[in-house]
Amino acid sequence: MTDTKKSIHGEWSSRFAFILAATGSAVGLGNIWKFPYITGENGGGAFVIVYLLCVLLIGIPIMMAETMLGRRSRQNPINTMITLADEAGADKNWHYLGWMGVTAGFLILSYYSVIAGWASAYVLKAFTGSFFGADAPAIKELFDGFVASPVQLAFWHTLFMLATMLVVVRGVNTGLEKAVRFLMPSLFVLLMLLVAYAMTFDDYYDQGIKFLFTPDFSKLTANGVLTAMGHAFFTLSLGMGAIMIYGSYLPKDVSISRTVFLIAGTDTAVALLAGIAIFPIVFAAGLEPAAGPGLIFQTLPVAFGNMTGGWLFGILFFVMLVFAALSSSISLIEPAVAWLIENKDMTRQQACIWSGSVTWLLGLGTVFSFNVWSEFKIFDRTIFQLLDYLTANLMLPIGGFCIAVFAGWIMKQQHTEHELDMPNPLSYQVWRILICYVSPAAVFLVFLHVVGVL
Ligand code: PFF
Ligand code: NA
Repeated sequence: MTDTKKSIHGEWSSRFAFILAATGSAVGLGNIWKFPYITGENGGGAFVIVYLLCVLLIGIPIMMAETMLGRRSRQNPINTMITLADEAGADKNWHYLGWMGVTAGFLILSYYSVIAGWASAYVLKAFTGSFFGADAPAIKELFDGFVASPVQLAFWHTLFMLATMLVVVRGVNTGLEKAVRFLMPSLFVLLMLLVAYAMTFDDYYDQGIKFLFTPDFSKLTANGVLTAMGHAFFTLSLGMGAIMIYGSYLPKDVSISRTVFLIAGTDTAVALLAGIAIFPIVFAAGLEPAAGPGLIFQTLPVAFGNMTGGWLFGILFFVMLVFAALSSSISLIEPAVAWLIENKDMTRQQACIWSGSVTWLLGLGTVFSFNVWSEFKIFDRTIFQLLDYLTANLMLPIGGFCIAVFAGWIMKQQHTEHELDMPNPLSYQVWRILICYVSPAAVFLVFLHVVGVL
């Protein structure tokens, strides 16, 4: 493989553009919607510690590996696995890893789009003053009424899928780069303002911080540990080829290691800030931290409805949430789109229509799981819960495990060393130990823990 090879889909205009795009992929509903509610469901502090450890020991090394695989092959995840397995003289079966990734992307996007639809609907609710003067029970009622309507959920889901397709159809372009350049800092500023607001709930602020940062390991179940690890993959967009495809558009001279630290650090900071902003409001409103997927939709509007400037703030917050979701959803569908273009001879437009329609249809399952099919359960889970568990807790960790094994044990050392181009030999050695032993072993041990062997 020559160093001048480029993806047929184009290339990021700079290192900064890649940072923005990859941060856009990482920072999303996972940080602001999912992290707070799964932390609430799993008892707080201990869960947060396991999650942070997983980001550091599993997430960061695997993020480097995934970026590296993409950049080395400059193709969609399926072809990447074929090309690189071939280069290393390894088994053909590695391409199933690419397939699992593309499938996981579809499944995740199908429910991701529904939740992003909630956020979009809440932009309108904020705008029309629905939260004005409302107390916690009224806000909860508003939420329950909303998700009980399949028509409303389907409508907003459709709108969000269309938006995703509209962005992806334009390709790897500067429009998106520019959007993220504006959106990411604004999101940060807004979160800071929300944190400041949460601090005004004196007692509750302490209660919120304690809940987040005081570990009580007796509250953490084996499945909680798996959820924490799965979330490390989900939040960093790992294990399914999203970061791989973004890596395939990465210019040759960019340092992967330094870039990855920045992206993972930003993602973690946004999640923690969201937790710091949300839990004091949860306790102040007398709500249960374990309220589930509705958590931020049942808490933040209480704040927006009663604070000075809450009207504007509420609109801005949900707009930001929608855009954060959009900069992630495009990375969920891009691997499939790139594959359809490269292997099925489709135009980008055809590829977007195909993959978008399939995801949209699958998404209806999640829409109905909150209302008409809410009693329909498989393994004691609704369709939404099942999709979430299957992807975040199983497919992403398994995908990440295989990526680690491939990068550490299958690829030639001189290739990974050359591709990663670390600042010094020691950092490369540390990465090797993590990717060959620590990350795969950690994933494996968590699985053993869940099935009760450990
Ligand atoms: N990282 C995104 C979030 O935290 O919202 C979700 C996501 C995007 C997961 C892309 C996986 C992925 F490939
Ligand atoms: Na994230």
